[in-house]
Amino acid sequence: MTPDLIHEFVPGSSNRTLLLLHGTGGNERDLIPLGRELDPNATLLSPRGKVLENGMPRFFRRLAEGVFDLEDLQKRTHELADFVAAAADRYDIDNKNIIAVGYSNGANIAASILLLRPEIFDGAILFRAMVPLEPHKPPELANIRVWIGAGNHDPIILPSETQRLVELLRTAGADVTVRFLSAGHALTPADISLARDWLSGL
Ligand code: MLT
Repeated sequence: MTPDLIHEFVPGSSNRTLLLLHGTGGNERDLIPLGRELDPNATLLSPRGKVLENGMPRFFRRLAEGVFDLEDLQKRTHELADFVAAAADRYDIDNKNIIAVGYSNGANIAASILLLRPEIFDGAILFRAMVPLEPHKPPELANIRVWIGAGNHDPIILPSETQRLVELLRTAGADVTVRFLSAGHALTPADISLARDWLSGL
């Protein structure tokens, strides 16, 4: 299998890999500086979402803001999980040390991988995530650590939606840290510094 998404690969000096997943309208280059800030030594793997919404790359189709095309979401979730597995082979990445770092649409597909393909990640940093789907069978997330950064004034994701995601992941056994920041949907320096501290303690 060959990794079939357009992507950036930046080798690192440790055996940790950050899988960087951009938001709607982003691309594979957007989150490289964020990845470096979060961990200066990690390998960075950053794919571009294949779905276009008015020319803007995304990781899966949506019918309206916050209303997802669930069939496409499931298909893209498996496609991205297979991409990560193929890239791990091709680049000789330690597949037991992959942490997803997603923002907005990228955080939502990372959460979807946690729920449908829990073997892919060892942890995840989810900036501004919502519940992407309700899995038919609860995943086994006992060894997975997740950090979630939410904005108290986010017009797209209400705190109750973040809480729903936290409960879903915790019920599946994940060790979840959630931080509600005085912020909107955009990332803030506080998000980055809190996530960096969490990551450095793993
Ligand atoms: C999504 O579509 O994944 C969410 O609404 C976040 C966004 O991309 O705006």
